[in-house]
Amino acid sequence: MINTRSNTHRAIVVLLLTFALSSSGTPAQGSSASGEQVNARVKALLSRMSLQEKIGQLSQVGALDLKPDQRKELGDLLPEDSVSIEDHVRRGEAGSILWTTDPVFISTLQHVAMEESRMKIPLLFGFDVIHGFRTIFPVPLAMAASWDPDLVENAQAVAAQEASAVGINWTFGPMVDIARDARWGRIVEGAGEDPFLGAAMARAQVRGFQGQQLGTPGRVVGSVKHFAGYGGAEGGRDYDGAYIPEEHLRNVYLPPFKAAIDAGVGTVMSAYLDLNDVPASGNRFLLRDVLRRDLGFKGFVVSDAMAVRDLQTHGFARDPQDAALRGLTAGVNMDMASLTYLRNLESLVQSGKLSMTQIDDAVRPILEVKIRMGLFEHPYSDSAAAESILTDPEHRKLARVAAQRTMVLLRNENSLLPLKKTVASVAVIGPLADSEKEIQGSWGVEKAAQAVSVLEGVRAKLPHVRVESVRGADLQRKYPSLVDKVFGVKPTVPLAEDQLKNELDKAVEAARRADTVVLILGELSNMSGEAASRASLDLPGNQQQLLEAVVATGKPVVLVLLNGRPLNISWAAGHVPAILEAWYPGTEGGNAIADILFGDANPEGKLPVSWPRTTGQVPTYYAHNLTHQPEDDKNFTSRYLDVPTSPLYPFGYGLCYTQFAFSKLQLSQTTLAPGGSLQVSIDVENTGRSSGSEVVQLYIHQRAGSASRPVRELKGFQRTLLAPSGKKTVRFTVGKDELSFWSPEAKAWVEESEEYDVWVGGDSTASLHASFRVAAN
Ligand code: BGC
Repeated sequence: MINTRSNTHRAIVVLLLTFALSSSGTPAQGSSASGEQVNARVKALLSRMSLQEKIGQLSQVGALDLKPDQRKELGDLLPEDSVSIEDHVRRGEAGSILWTTDPVFISTLQHVAMEESRMKIPLLFGFDVIHGFRTIFPVPLAMAASWDPDLVENAQAVAAQEASAVGINWTFGPMVDIARDARWGRIVEGAGEDPFLGAAMARAQVRGFQGQQLGTPGRVVGSVKHFAGYGGAEGGRDYDGAYIPEEHLRNVYLPPFKAAIDAGVGTVMSAYLDLNDVPASGNRFLLRDVLRRDLGFKGFVVSDAMAVRDLQTHGFARDPQDAALRGLTAGVNMDMASLTYLRNLESLVQSGKLSMTQIDDAVRPILEVKIRMGLFEHPYSDSAAAESILTDPEHRKLARVAAQRTMVLLRNENSLLPLKKTVASVAVIGPLADSEKEIQGSWGVEKAAQAVSVLEGVRAKLPHVRVESVRGADLQRKYPSLVDKVFGVKPTVPLAEDQLKNELDKAVEAARRADTVVLILGELSNMSGEAASRASLDLPGNQQQLLEAVVATGKPVVLVLLNGRPLNISWAAGHVPAILEAWYPGTEGGNAIADILFGDANPEGKLPVSWPRTTGQVPTYYAHNLTHQPEDDKNFTSRYLDVPTSPLYPFGYGLCYTQFAFSKLQLSQTTLAPGGSLQVSIDVENTGRSSGSEVVQLYIHQRAGSASRPVRELKGFQRTLLAPSGKKTVRFTVGKDELSFWSPEAKAWVEESEEYDVWVGGDSTASLHASFRVAAN
């Protein structure tokens, strides 16, 4: 029985969401101070600080506790540092500490800062709380697939609560890099290809991390990253540079940053990449003209880890001193972990290359953020409450709901799914089938809660059914991951040829014995994320062989994917009746997958990326411009001669266990005064036999103008829950915000008096169409 969206279930979700949001209503600790009061406090502090103490505030010190041989392994990835972290803090040489999650160490360091340092300025403790801390939520790309900003906000509120319980008060998120090349490993950390969806996710995450304002108890300050254009890395190779024209930067890459800044994010992280020949962390145009002047950012900028030092590595700065000078003058307030500011700013001031005013200007927003967070008054976390927060069962419940709502049903021939719980036997096959580690995805935390594997989830769902499991294939990263390198993780030994064959044979036998096969394929968690780009989107290892062998048994097969990017599943799309994209669903992943497979929850996610047919098709994204010879189905059809131009699955796509019909697309008017707005309405009906929710999506297109515009751009979406036969009119407003774009001709944001198309439907190929005109001025 499929009753996910029954009233009871809804009530639970609402309860969880209310719970997660409850602390946002609590009065803030520090932000009650007015702008003037904050300024006065900052001024007073600055007037008493020595140059060295000011430089300390501009420095974030890394606290990776490495053994000598681990350090050797890392080469010069981290700077040598003969001073202990405590001493740095005692001497006022650190504004922030990075990479420690140990509550005792955090508390010790904060006590040193507050009691033993001369200025008694509290520390910021920064950590990558990307999709959960103790409780791991689905990876950010998956969260974007929920198309549910409230859910995203509430998940990040829980993450913030858990992190702040151990004393972390700063997260390096949200990551909002637009990514249109699935080879890029970090596509998993963001919201996918679209600026509008990306902006919605950015806003929601900032609200979740920070609460209504800085200083909300149980929340942390966010850092929107990586500013900017990092997702445009050439060839999808991580850390590679990008050439991004200004119009593309402003129309595509910057909107999610703007959304985060408008939502009040306290800090911005400058990226590693070399943008248009100027590394982002030394790029004045980005950090001053765009970020401060155009986007109105008032907080502080932290570089990405080592990025200030690496201005030299890039072949941009001459030496470390030049790197410090270029980073600071470009607009990086805080140097993350490279100690380049700590070692070089003083001599730059002494030699007159930097003035005290420039130093003060850089320190000011850091002190402001600390004051607004209330850190001077409340520097410590409540250690007595920590354990109950970290083990709160409500967090796992929310993680399960989140995982359910992020999964995307890509194919379901003859309604194979949901499976019946009365099935006699199930084989759960695949190298990822019984992994509690891999299901959590990248940025997993060492002390994360015990996760549930898919096998465990299926067994828990079917206690009386024979469920057997075989790995069937082997998965190995060819080169070690960054994390493996840092922590000296030794690679596992790959299976020999005969062992592989043996595994494959066992899998086929298990499939033959079973009534139904659930095949869990995808990527190891360290195959996506930072420094985890892949030249091929094919299923890694011998998984394709396993897939074909299992399908050849003739048994009903459900393919469940655990992965951080679209993969080449073109063969599966033609041969496997049911395909569920589960991403890396986190702590409760195995339970949530079982909920969907057996009909206790509905798959309602929608793709936040266009799904390419093959690697050679990337970058693949729906919002492309027309060519001189637009492809269509009848005439000249393709820009490739060997594959269609269209993706395998379009952006916004995802099936459900019920069906929806759209009708009566109506506009409130067909001519619009510039600056005015119109209403778009559409009727949606649940025509299937179970409850379900559909994401109603609105796309527009400007037919002509001062620049070519994308064939379609998402400009609105709403999730709508409907009972069988239920019908609803969904309404959108379209006005200046939706119609404006940054014109390369005007070098400004414009709304042009032109004809516009509107489509509304269930994905980016929606066919119900209307049009309107913006009248001349
Ligand atoms: C990553 C950032 C991260 C930082 C701190 C860098 O390598 O690019 O996303 O926030 O490390 O861990």
